[in-house]
Amino acid sequence: MHGSEYRQYDQMQHRANQATQALLLRAAESVPEHKQHKLLVADYGSSVSTSSAQLLAPVVQQLASKAALVSVAHVDLPENDWQALSEAVQSCAGSYVHVASNVSSQQCARSFYTQCFPAATVSLGWSGIALQWLSASIPQAGHLCCTPSSMDSGAISKIKAQAQEDWRVFLAHRATELKPGAHLIVTALCLLPGESTLGQALDQLNRQLCDAWRLQLGHGLGKATMLYSSQQTMQAP
Ligand SMILES: C[S@@+](CC[C@H](N)C(=O)[O-])C[C@H]1O[C@@H](n2cnc3c(N)ncnc32)[C@H](O)[C@@H]1O
Repeated sequence: MHGSEYRQYDQMQHRANQATQALLLRAAESVPEHKQHKLLVADYGSSVSTSSAQLLAPVVQQLASKAALVSVAHVDLPENDWQALSEAVQSCAGSYVHVASNVSSQQCARSFYTQCFPAATVSLGWSGIALQWLSASIPQAGHLCCTPSSMDSGAISKIKAQAQEDWRVFLAHRATELKPGAHLIVTALCLLPGESTLGQALDQLNRQLCDAWRLQLGHGLGKATMLYSSQQTMQAP
């Protein structure tokens, strides 16, 4: 999706991310001083959203007083709209790039299911609403997009297994990249235990959204499977 289009739909991500502000600040407080060195903050699954740029501003401000340089690295897939991200980070109101003179921004065009940075170099890791994207499509889940009520139990088991393995791989790579004692903060879509009624309502809603999406995009465009509200899947164009 082109950058400007994405930002018409990122309010939900923005609100969910705001809820983590206090956690991010606490994590930044615990980063030791490195007056002669660079501190690296990683944003895994950045998209083109202005959400991270604003959310990270007070965090980066705090870190900038502890280091010679703070660099925020935005990680996303190679096909991300990198130019739109760069413009958003530079121009959006309240962006972290303007909080201090020793702050810079960098881009990392690779999957967060791989190692993205050298071992023990990341001082703070952050991921906002991105881990619903699985590492690969699940053929059993259907052609383009699907919901639990449109899948058999075999397909649901495959998706759960893939999601579990992806989470393990994601954490293993972050464990390598993060400095000892550094924090990783993740917001992810999920259903809480006992929310079956809400789950059913979401299933219905998502089924309609999937139908609309399928109509709009046609068939055969699937590339990766998206895990949606912990039990839904969609295949990305
Ligand atoms: C819903 S957007 C979240 C954007 C932003 N973090 C926010 O909070 O507004 C999810 C992003 O994750 C990215 N993504 C999906 N799978 C990925 C992967 N394997 N590696 C890196 N980024 C990925 C997508 O390309 C998309 O830009």
